[in-house]
Amino acid sequence: MDKKIKATITGLGAYLPERILTNSDLEAMVETSNEWIVTRCGIEERRIARADEFSSTMGARAAQTAMQQAKITANEIDAIIVCSMTPDYLCPSTAALIQNELQATRACAIDIQAACSGFLYGLSIAKAWIDSTVFKNILVIATEKNSAYIDYKDRGTCILFGDGAGAAVVQKGGPGYAIDYVSIGADGSEANLIVIPASGCRMPASEETVKNGDHFLKMNGKEVFKHAVRRMEAAAKECLDKTGISQEELGWLIPHQANLRIMEAISKRFQIPWERVYRTIHKYGNTSSSTVPIALAEFDAEKAAKHNEHLLLVAFGGGLTWGASLLTKVDA
Ligand code: UT7
Repeated sequence: MDKKIKATITGLGAYLPERILTNSDLEAMVETSNEWIVTRCGIEERRIARADEFSSTMGARAAQTAMQQAKITANEIDAIIVCSMTPDYLCPSTAALIQNELQATRACAIDIQAACSGFLYGLSIAKAWIDSTVFKNILVIATEKNSAYIDYKDRGTCILFGDGAGAAVVQKGGPGYAIDYVSIGADGSEANLIVIPASGCRMPASEETVKNGDHFLKMNGKEVFKHAVRRMEAAAKECLDKTGISQEELGWLIPHQANLRIMEAISKRFQIPWERVYRTIHKYGNTSSSTVPIALAEFDAEKAAKHNEHLLLVAFGGGLTWGASLLTKVDA
């Protein structure tokens, strides 16, 4: 492994709304059961944002915690990258709203959209900006108010998704989690598997679209499942190949929390013991791009990783998109 000073996650934060939607709440809304949701997905409950909480406000809260941990002020932030498939608006960007909320007046602000893989895409961009010395202090924020796009009559999606935000400060050098490598990819030929049909210029919102529920997220879960494991496995392998880290050297897996069975499949492929797979899915469900930074922030708060231990992040989502990253814990 090369010894140069790397782009490093130096601060982490998470924000979860207070309101809890349990499986028994959902049993009263659609034809489902706690038993089906727990055994097929691993979810017990998820968080739902208040009417006056948005992707921007949740993202800003997570970012404030990350900045405190990194001991950095808003004025020092050079760039804000927001990953969200549920932005406050198509225009202006959620990043611009967060820039204002944080009073990070020096920072440029950009939204990126890579669905559930967004945080990995954000890390990849932040790493490139740090490595090329374009910027020094970058906020990567993943934030989702999925509940705004979920049809609570569709049992194929409403049992899965929740709201929440996670954030990371990325700087050159540690202490923190050195970003050794990020692999990202996409397959637009399968774009139809996860779609919000009336969410852009192709199908402008109208009385008709609302009547048909076209403003809600539609997912072919079974098909998505088939692609998820294969794509995440390939991206993770690329991280190992490029860094020269072996499978046996992996300390922890911090995967996208979409389905417990997908997480199990990845842990088996890389022979990572189940107790070393960090899980939040039971309490937060699938928060799209936010699952990985929320899990990483909670993992970090538990101080689970030792100096020099390697972490593997993997994610998969609409687009289709996917990503993986190899991190190394670096103590002060
Ligand atoms: O984060 C973005 C990426 N997204 C993902 O990675 C999601 C990947 N997909 C999945 O996690 C799973 O496909 C789901 C959890 C969405 C669905 O699980 P599944 O094991 O693929 O179920 P299925 O769609 O094959 O349905 C199996 C059965 C069907 O009944 P029959 O036809 O066998 O009688 C469904 O109608 O389960 C039924 N079913 C349900 N039953 C109770 C589907 N949804 C539910 C439900 N409650 N909520």
